[in-house]
Amino acid sequence: MQRAIIIAVLGLLVALLSLITAMFAAFTPAIPTAQIREEERQGRASYDEATLLNHMVNMQRYIEKAALSAEAENWELTQFYAEKIDERATRVIDGGYIVDGIDVSAIAAEIADPRATALAEAAATRDRARFDEAYDVMVDGCNACHGRSGYPLIQIRRPDAAAYPSQVFETPASQRARQ
Ligand code: HEC
Repeated sequence: MQRAIIIAVLGLLVALLSLITAMFAAFTPAIPTAQIREEERQGRASYDEATLLNHMVNMQRYIEKAALSAEAENWELTQFYAEKIDERATRVIDGGYIVDGIDVSAIAAEIADPRATALAEAAATRDRARFDEAYDVMVDGCNACHGRSGYPLIQIRRPDAAAYPSQVFETPASQRARQ
């Protein structure tokens, strides 16, 4: 009888021990292996590449449209695009982009942000000469960052023709005046 109790208690102890072991295995945080960390890093890098590229596609779009709107003396629209560039510059800073070891976001904070803010301010003054000057400084900023981040082959300049034939850049008033 006593033996049976001892065996039962021992059995219970073994069961308890395996339960504790199982719970420990289930709840201990997984230590990421080097491979998992590398996969995460690559995933983040390609996500960053895609979002940075998306900012650039838009930067080019907005800087062109800002020139075309200023050309048409449409200051409200010029200001709209200048502010878009300013917003994008902030997003490049906030993105924390490191491209091939170069801190692109830090360059954006140093070069792009003050120039984009100046561009938006110049557009708000509706002063063509002041805007043109701020515009050249901004474009110089695009190229300065491309140079510093290892992409000197990407050269931006003021558009010399209407690059968006599908969009109206003139004000309704000047459209009417032309008709
Ligand atoms: C803070 C740095 C920085 C600034 C400022 C910057 N760029 Fe870029 N740009 C880059 C980098 C880095 C790449 C390469 C991105 C890649 O391919 O991963 C790039 C790529 C590009 C490309 C090639 C991709 C495409 O869509 O054809 C264009 C165009 C471009 N930038 C336009 C501009 C314009 C226009 C401005 C200014 C209004 C500007 N960039 C300002 C860093 C910058």
